[in-house]
Amino acid sequence: MPVIVDAPDGDAIDLAEFKEGCRDLRMDASEADGLLAAAPLLRRLQKNRRFLAQFLFDHLDRFRSDARGTEHTGQIFPLGPIDDNHYGRACIWPSADSDMYRKTGPALFYSDEPHDPNFSFLTVGYSGPGYSSDYYEVRDDTGDWHPGTKVQLTPTGRKTLAEGAMFLYRKAVDVHSQIPPAATSISLNIVAAKKSNTHDQQHIFTRDMSSVAYIHHQRANYPLFAAAANLDVGNSFERLADLSESHRDGFIRFYALKALAASRAERADVANVMETASKDPNPVLRGLASRYLEMMAA
Ligand SMILES: [Fe+2]
Repeated sequence: MPVIVDAPDGDAIDLAEFKEGCRDLRMDASEADGLLAAAPLLRRLQKNRRFLAQFLFDHLDRFRSDARGTEHTGQIFPLGPIDDNHYGRACIWPSADSDMYRKTGPALFYSDEPHDPNFSFLTVGYSGPGYSSDYYEVRDDTGDWHPGTKVQLTPTGRKTLAEGAMFLYRKAVDVHSQIPPAATSISLNIVAAKKSNTHDQQHIFTRDMSSVAYIHHQRANYPLFAAAANLDVGNSFERLADLSESHRDGFIRFYALKALAASRAERADVANVMETASKDPNPVLRGLASRYLEMMAA
């Protein structure tokens, strides 16, 4: 369960005052709790019933003067940087029977995709009845997790981010399975964007919460490895082979291996390479290779 925050009341402030106040706090972005210092300011911003409308109107007005309109996509509207390590955003949550939800499907809004956040954030229900979530907590070390890892998440109950409710989501701890609100709702977030080395990955879980379905991370993207393997020039194979053998990160070793394996024509060769990797001491490489073999056999 995210931390339920009972922020004190105060007069409404505008976005500029909010940001200035947050900057003065010099929030610690390395701990989720660092965001709690901004709770009174977020409460006062939430009490401002005009600022978000004005922000959205400003964007709408761009369509009149600029054919490109807006750079924003999806349901998240950046409210800009707050300080070096934090930024603001507004999130729109349509109801399940709305046109927007029906056309884009649940994935854009993370419905039916239980996940943890790869950053900590403080959020307040700004308008509407708010989305609900079934919450779980991660109490294990996620360092060796990979798609297919069996997990035991601890259920902590259901809550709704109703208008005025304020929650602190802790990176790599709070998992939620989201349920669309009964009517379109908006939430405001302060996001701690500071990067750390190990846990800047987001886990998406299977619907039954029993295992990791897939992982979003920014360590490397597989198409880069695949492209290098396909461009058989210079020493691309040697580079990939070197990465596959000696990199400390199991994902990168697997990507290099998969790209090399995919460039081979023989299915049996690929199976041999993955078979060897499935016995490697590195648990992430071992897990990913085992899963690859399972998918080959399916
Ligand atoms: Fe989420």
